[in-house]
Amino acid sequence: MADERITLSEHLAGRRSAMAPAYAGGVAVILSRLADVAAVIERELAHAALRDQLGYAGGTNLTGDQVKKLDLWGHDIVVAALRKTGAVAAVVSEEAPEPVEMYEGKGPHGIVVCIDPVDGSSNLDVNGIVGTIFSLRPSRGLDPAGPAVLGPVGDQLAAGYVMYGPACTLVYSAGDGTHGFTLDRETGEFLLTHPEIRTPRRGKTYGINEGNVRSWHPGQQAFVQFLRTPDKANGRPYSLRYVGSMVADVHRFLLAGGIFMYPADMSDPARPTGKLRLLYEVAPMAFVLEQAGGRASTGTERVLDLVATEYHQRVPILIGSADEVALAEDFYRR
Ligand code: AHG
Ligand code: MN
Ligand code: MN
Repeated sequence: MADERITLSEHLAGRRSAMAPAYAGGVAVILSRLADVAAVIERELAHAALRDQLGYAGGTNLTGDQVKKLDLWGHDIVVAALRKTGAVAAVVSEEAPEPVEMYEGKGPHGIVVCIDPVDGSSNLDVNGIVGTIFSLRPSRGLDPAGPAVLGPVGDQLAAGYVMYGPACTLVYSAGDGTHGFTLDRETGEFLLTHPEIRTPRRGKTYGINEGNVRSWHPGQQAFVQFLRTPDKANGRPYSLRYVGSMVADVHRFLLAGGIFMYPADMSDPARPTGKLRLLYEVAPMAFVLEQAGGRASTGTERVLDLVATEYHQRVPILIGSADEVALAEDFYRR
């Protein structure tokens, strides 16, 4: 069976008809190049401790996170690789305050890539799981192309992530289902291992940072309390699974069902704030989950109906099985 597995490039070539024709070539080139970079990141992560690449680079990024050496290194190699494709009009990166404009990819059908080069980087120094999250958006010929990513986030051409775990897994959707690939570390190829992923309508686990319980919306508190309340006949209590890396957490619920939540901090009810960033964490994950039959909500709104107004805008997110997300929204309405 192994030698019959198709590569990511073959899969992309086979799916071009499902992509918007004007963008299909650019999407395929960019996703292939992101896969190549992922294989480089995967190797670097495996050797980071040996190369003194762990730890902080000093300073904080625009959203106030302390920046790790690998955050900046990841940003640099992703930007360099995307520039070489000649198909990218701009990159919106967690590690850069403003979009990195790329004149090589300008044009009426240029593509803007929104990216979180290293997601979950607080796990790096403890050999935890991290990832890379990406979203490809039409630049509509805008120059500079950066502002093209502002607006409705439902217009994504493709989105996905790489999870650097025991296996290195790449999951993507270009609007024609969600598909998973596993890196063959010998050849450097990503091979199809999870075709047409379907998220179970209901799961048995939930993921959330319960340390923040006091800051949650009352509906969020009631929903988690409900999941924890024993009711064997209805599959409760749920089990808590939380890695602290969005890619690792969401990947579990994509495959096994259940719900990941990073709800708003309601400490100031007049100014609820999310933690996760819309353009390069929340919107791409929402695209991937919906394409797999799951759902993604802020608690009160469908994520893919949101409008981006800033590059590093933060929003709340509840994402995973359709039934659990719908039930959570119900608790928010009560
Ligand atoms: P990043 O490392 O790119 O800043 O992302 C970290 C995010 C996300 O990966 C994860 O779900 C969340 O931070 C965890 O936040 P807490 O540590 O507050 O639980
Ligand atoms: Mn992140
Ligand atoms: Mn990051």
